[in-house]
Amino acid sequence: MSSAALIADWALLDAGLTTGLPRHVTAATGIDAMVHAIESYTSARLKNPVSDLLAREALRLLSANLIRACDHPDDLDARGQMLLGAHLAGVAFANAPVAGVHALAYPLGGHFHVPHGLSNALMLSHVLGHNMPAAMTSYAELGVLLEPELGEEGRQAQAQGFVRHMARLARGAGLPERLRQVGVTLEHLDMLAREAMKQERLLVNNPCPITEADARRLYEAAL
Ligand SMILES: [Fe+2]
Repeated sequence: MSSAALIADWALLDAGLTTGLPRHVTAATGIDAMVHAIESYTSARLKNPVSDLLAREALRLLSANLIRACDHPDDLDARGQMLLGAHLAGVAFANAPVAGVHALAYPLGGHFHVPHGLSNALMLSHVLGHNMPAAMTSYAELGVLLEPELGEEGRQAQAQGFVRHMARLARGAGLPERLRQVGVTLEHLDMLAREAMKQERLLVNNPCPITEADARRLYEAAL
């Protein structure tokens, strides 16, 4: 469920209020904001030229500053750019909504108390891989945006470069990479896949359909 009451009237972006955050919170919330931009940019519903512009600028800012904000927690410039990026990504996905990464992340939060941004980070590269047949062009565009040298490559290499770029950022920020590191085991996968199917309002936005069997396969790949 979503509600107009959840939409902010004002957003105050004050980097000075974020300097005391532990590194893992900076890392997880930063990756979450990037996933907002990515999923908005490839949303099967309501994606439009304005949400695309917002998502691209958000992703550019967040990608350029995440590691700096993690490594130098008092760097107000990096934190300010992260706040602006997170805000722009928020406006993007309030118009072109998030999708499969969030749908598969939610059960991890509900059942294993994994922080929201970390659960997104754990599923990100697997869902991006699943979406590749429908979203390759968009991922290729984002790959060149974040790594201009990928412009010399073909579309598939650009898209794969984008997936690798995101995995590198999450690793560099110090986030765990496997579901087993947050307490998930093989016997949980059926339950997680079943729970993910309940996230219908998110799954309808995914560029490729995700069945329950797909979800189980993606959780297993992330294990
Ligand atoms: Fe999120």
